[in-house]
Amino acid sequence: CEKDDFRDLKVLITAGPTQEPIDPVRYITNRSSGKMGYAIAAQAQKRGAKVKIVSGPVNISPPYGVEVVYVKTADEMYNEVMKSYADFDILIMVAAVADYKCAQIAEKKIKKKDEKLTIELVKNPDIAKELGKVKGNRILVGFSAETDKLVNNACEKLASKNLDMIIANDVTQEGAGFGTDTNIIKIIKKDGEIVDFPLMSKLEAGDRILDEVIKLIGKNGVD
Ligand code: PMT
Repeated sequence: CEKDDFRDLKVLITAGPTQEPIDPVRYITNRSSGKMGYAIAAQAQKRGAKVKIVSGPVNISPPYGVEVVYVKTADEMYNEVMKSYADFDILIMVAAVADYKCAQIAEKKIKKKDEKLTIELVKNPDIAKELGKVKGNRILVGFSAETDKLVNNACEKLASKNLDMIIANDVTQEGAGFGTDTNIIKIIKKDGEIVDFPLMSKLEAGDRILDEVIKLIGKNGVD
């Protein structure tokens, strides 16, 4: 039988990559298909939640009935999330946001000329970190895609962004991370508890993450 434990809860999810333009024909981006974020959205909706995805450019279809707002840049994702978060109980940041954008976007296509080309980058807003400052008793979940020091790096992000929980995935492992239909996740909670999962579909991983979120809601008493 289907659970409806997310009935009356509103879940906001960021998913996919951001694209930071260099000139009219080029951009900087990250390797994200949107599958992990869309899978969590599908399962949250199935369990009764009202779900909104703020999505970077992806090639997959959103789950039926889920509201999606498409954005391209980190600034656009930041603005959309900041405009909406107050209406939501649970904020799940799955997007692979570009940490940097071009200091200046060239108006015309940059021509091939010298042997070297330098592009100056400046920091993008950190959406999860800004939410951490204003979240109140909302549940804030982050993700951490790592190639080394998985738990250490994830714990550092958990603390610095004031998250309630972070999902660590080692993108060097077969079947985990970007683009795949599967993932291998560790759920790390604010109290230091780590729950380790084997390879599973992103849909199933989504359900396991939502199980931990609902336990936290019991404790936090989001109304
Ligand atoms: O989309 P898929 O192909 O299914 O791949 C899924 C995934 C690998 C992208 C996903 O599982 C994942 O790990 N997403 C986080 C990617 C990442 O490396 O995040 P980060 O370490 O740069 O950031 C940590 C957290 O802060 C994340 O929750 C991120 O969404 C958030 N963040 C980061 C930077 C920024 N400017 N704003 C943010 O909100």
